[in-house]
Amino acid sequence: MHPLLVLLATSSLTFAQAAREANYDEAKVGTFTLPPLLVAQDGSKVTTAEQWTKQRRAEVIGLFREHVYGHSPAKTDDLKFEVTGTKDDALGGLATRKFVHLTLTKHPQWQGLDLMLYVPNARRQPAPVFVGLSFGGNHAVSTEPDVPLNPRRMPGLKNGKSGNQASEPTRGSEASRWPLEMLIKHGYAVATAWYGDLEPDHPQGWKDGLRAALSPDGVNTRWQPNDWGAIGAWAWGLSRMLDYLETDPAIDARHAVVIGHSRLGKTALWAGAQDERFAITISNESGEGGAALSRRNFGETTQRITTSFPHWFCGNYAKYADDPNANPVDQHMLIALAAPRPLYIASADGDPWSDPHGEFLSGQLAGEVWALFGKAGTGTSTWPAVNHPVGDCVGYHLRTGKHDVTAYDWEQYLNFAERHFAP
Ligand code: GCU
Repeated sequence: MHPLLVLLATSSLTFAQAAREANYDEAKVGTFTLPPLLVAQDGSKVTTAEQWTKQRRAEVIGLFREHVYGHSPAKTDDLKFEVTGTKDDALGGLATRKFVHLTLTKHPQWQGLDLMLYVPNARRQPAPVFVGLSFGGNHAVSTEPDVPLNPRRMPGLKNGKSGNQASEPTRGSEASRWPLEMLIKHGYAVATAWYGDLEPDHPQGWKDGLRAALSPDGVNTRWQPNDWGAIGAWAWGLSRMLDYLETDPAIDARHAVVIGHSRLGKTALWAGAQDERFAITISNESGEGGAALSRRNFGETTQRITTSFPHWFCGNYAKYADDPNANPVDQHMLIALAAPRPLYIASADGDPWSDPHGEFLSGQLAGEVWALFGKAGTGTSTWPAVNHPVGDCVGYHLRTGKHDVTAYDWEQYLNFAERHFAP
């Protein structure tokens, strides 16, 4: 069985149990004190945008590198893009579809990533673009029959049973989360790839991904507690996708929106925090280790996530499993790293595991950094009712329904992007 399926199979019982046993009672959250966002490590108060940009921002990003996601390597100088296919009448003529194979020529151990790009044909100028990774691969995002199945080892379905290769029954299985036609009709391009191309999602996955390829010791690497984890590798890949997009004349890479759902929402937040070329960051139900405050004992906890998914983070993060209060950061500080660029946080009322209220609070509290730039964040300190989007530079909504990405979510993201990208 594929190691990912083994992980899912062996952890699902305990996982379901953990989800049942988690605290879902607001009255039992208790009190906690958050680390101050606007006090620098030398004790001085941060009162200007300049102080934030020149001093505090770097401190905060350094703390996340050291204690949560690990230090990622710099961009390498060996990135190669090869266009492996172009179709100018994709989606019934609405879009041009391109496949681009990204590799690192000096690190051939990494098999590379297959970027799938849809660009609206009706555009009069280079198109703004949504950039995000998928759980199921390009053939799961698109329903088009000529999108190649991912050739790599990945969870798939064969004759209705789990297999190690992508197969036809999974084609389009993630399409509802990627409304390509809707985005194209609004003038946006979409660039996506399978996250497993960067690193397969299980504790040993790094050996078959970027992290081993970029490490001098390859599969024999002994990771230091502050070295990057899988979220770091996935986020690194999003930046390399943007490197390609900057070279494509059909794309307006200055208007790139990085987006992700759930663990890939955590990834989008980390990518947007580190790479300021992303003009907007969107977190869809990213929960613990994403937008939700770790110190709030509601839904998933640091303890739970570092037990179930230790490979997502750096080793140091597990130190805070028993006491998130000892962590020098909390997630409102991650949100703040996007400032002054706009950022959107979406929650769902049927997804208490992700702690919707904790996600809102992060966004709301991070607003003090936007304020330094004379900008408004969520614009309210009251957690809004369901299906009532709020926010200026920090958008937020609580949607009805389960943990998923829906057309409602995308409508808000389009409105938000259109508002912020308007000339
Ligand atoms: C699990 C995990 C979450 C994560 C989610 C996902 O539920 O506990 O932290 O966000 O998987 O990525 O789907």
